Amino acid sequence: MSSKLKSLLGDVLEPGERRIVFSSYDVIGDIIIMKIPNSLQYKKYIIGKRLLENTKHAKCVFLQTSSVDGGFRLRKLELLAGADRTVTEYHEHGCRFKVDVSKVYFSPRLSTERHRIAEKVKDNEIITNMFAGVGTFSILIAKQNPRSTVFSIDSNPKANILCLVNAKLNKVQDRVFPFCGDAKYIAGNLLAGLSHRVLMPLPEKAKEFVDSAIACLNDKRGSVHYFAHIRAHNKRDAVNEGKLATTEAFRHYNHVVGTTRIVREVGPRLYQIVSDVLISNR
Ligand SMILES: C[S@@+](CC[C@H](N)C(=O)[O-])C[C@H]1O[C@@H](n2cnc3c(N)ncnc32)[C@H](O)[C@@H]1O
Repeated sequence: MSSKLKSLLGDVLEPGERRIVFSSYDVIGDIIIMKIPNSLQYKKYIIGKRLLENTKHAKCVFLQTSSVDGGFRLRKLELLAGADRTVTEYHEHGCRFKVDVSKVYFSPRLSTERHRIAEKVKDNEIITNMFAGVGTFSILIAKQNPRSTVFSIDSNPKANILCLVNAKLNKVQDRVFPFCGDAKYIAGNLLAGLSHRVLMPLPEKAKEFVDSAIACLNDKRGSVHYFAHIRAHNKRDAVNEGKLATTEAFRHYNHVVGTTRIVREVGPRLYQIVSDVLISNR
């Protein structure tokens, strides 16, 4: 339990209950999303109410009742306290993002990674983001690099529309182009040969899309940011295993795995990693 939650719930929980650890919560705009262990579910409404009352600017608290699941990577939510609304505006690195937390994937925990990749982009780059969601990586890149162009693919039509809305909101609609559909086809065919850099932020499945990522590179060379989930005993092992998994995924192509880093821990001994891969055509 995070220390803030612990102090907020001091009088709500029995001493034994305080020892039950549950992961911290996410604040997305004015919406809070939290998880509560089964044994504390009977107190979920008072926990939600207390958190709402003590979080500046928060308007509602939702309980996450399922894991992030399905092709669109969505989670089920139950209202615990406050307004019954799932649309909000989230701010990050000077950008504004309209998000519907019940209809699209969104995580504030990728903020550092979004900034890191945006910093790598050079003048006049063309970038394909294969799994763009509401356009977080794409729009941040375009905003920070006024000479870049970003093709922003997602198979979830609601994410795609929000990407369009967010591109306008951030005044980059002339350089961020949303495509709705399967990245395998769109990157591998429609956008083949156009990009200098490709983002693959779908760690559960990115490996299946490597051929399409390479196909959309200009002259079959450039940078790929490859995301994966790695099971390991600790962070150091996860980085080493992540490098190996990346090499395996790109084994059919001339490549060098540069930095591999932990993006975040997503479960017990399960890490999300990203590798920066340099592809060359000889
Ligand atoms: C983990 S989310 C990443 C979203 C975004 N990059 C972000 O940071 O907020 C993965 C996204 O990939 C999309 N997706 C899943 N399968 C896809 C496919 N075959 N082609 C295109 N998009 C896909 C999902 O709808 C989801 O929005």
